[in-house]
Amino acid sequence: MSPAPHALPDTLRATACALTVAALSACVAPGVGEPAQPTQAPTTLAPTTQAPTTKRASTTRTPAAQGASQLMWAALNQGDYAAIDRVLQALQAAYLQDPADATTAANIGFVQMWRVSESARNGKPDPSVLANVATARRFLEESVALDGSDARRQGFRASTRLAEGAMHRDPALQRLGAADMQDAVRAWPQFNLFTLARNLGGAPAGSKTLQQAIDALWQAQDLCIGGTLPRHDPDMRPYMGLQTGEGLNRVCWNSAIAPHNFEGFFLDWGDLLVKSGDAATARKIYANAKLSQDYGTWPWRELLEARIRDADVNVARFAAPADAPQYVPIGRGSPIACVSCHQK
Ligand code: HEC
Repeated sequence: MSPAPHALPDTLRATACALTVAALSACVAPGVGEPAQPTQAPTTLAPTTQAPTTKRASTTRTPAAQGASQLMWAALNQGDYAAIDRVLQALQAAYLQDPADATTAANIGFVQMWRVSESARNGKPDPSVLANVATARRFLEESVALDGSDARRQGFRASTRLAEGAMHRDPALQRLGAADMQDAVRAWPQFNLFTLARNLGGAPAGSKTLQQAIDALWQAQDLCIGGTLPRHDPDMRPYMGLQTGEGLNRVCWNSAIAPHNFEGFFLDWGDLLVKSGDAATARKIYANAKLSQDYGTWPWRELLEARIRDADVNVARFAAPADAPQYVPIGRGSPIACVSCHQK
């Protein structure tokens, strides 16, 4: 039913560094964007699932686990980045009580990735996020092994494998992540094509990979509208009636847990188009964010309006190397990488 995904593994391998923290020097140094090639290429891809866990997933949640989940959502919905350590304390305490709660495990992974993704808030590269990526991967693997029914979590797991694989320059882990991502896209393309685009979007301006990130977003949006969004006039107005809170397409719209998903999605998409040099199409894509019935309460609407105004000058800023003075981080490297969609 879903369209055949692009040839993801090669693409992901070529640019895996792009998906680590943009500021990490290991990834921004010129010529280091390519992961080390294995001396001997394995003939088969590593399986996308790890050895089966002998643990059985809990079917009920402890009060501590429920409380910790609530703390996480409150922090994310308030954009309270400073609360991360406190949230992790609660989640980890809950996990120690019940290490078979797949949601608690996933939440630890999510919060660790929040810390990593928005570490640009701190203004300078933070090498300590390496440990956060490793922890996130461990817990998302645990979560998906316990309960593999949620393709959104699989997409997150793939991201952490790719990110950690890039940091270690470990081609096997990167291949595992790429295959995992391909499966996740197949299972829930409306959601995971965005996850994929986030992973590819750090690729250099002018690269095929950056174009593939942009193509993934067109493809996701085509699925959301059940048609083809006109490439030269991508106006969402005719499709706003398709809004739904049900089924796979619910992730195309705003919801309680992603209260400004629609706005954040078009912000990210416009940013990638600007980075690729196409400011004219970017302006039209950005403008779609304003069609959301929640636009008036979106904390980042002034930023979006500045993006529309400054699209031409931003081409050089978004495309600059991460150590250049004019560089402005976008997408996964931006200080609002998660809260653009999740903050109320
Ligand atoms: C483009 C908007 C967007 C961005 C950016 C975004 N998310 Fe989400 N997120 C969503 C949507 C949409 C969903 C799924 C909503 C649904 O299932 O109805 C979601 C789901 C989630 C969930 C719930 C998953 C579950 O298992 O219940 C968590 C947690 C989460 N995101 C955390 C994050 C973190 C951490 C980041 C930053 C690394 C992030 N999100 C970035 C839109 C976004």
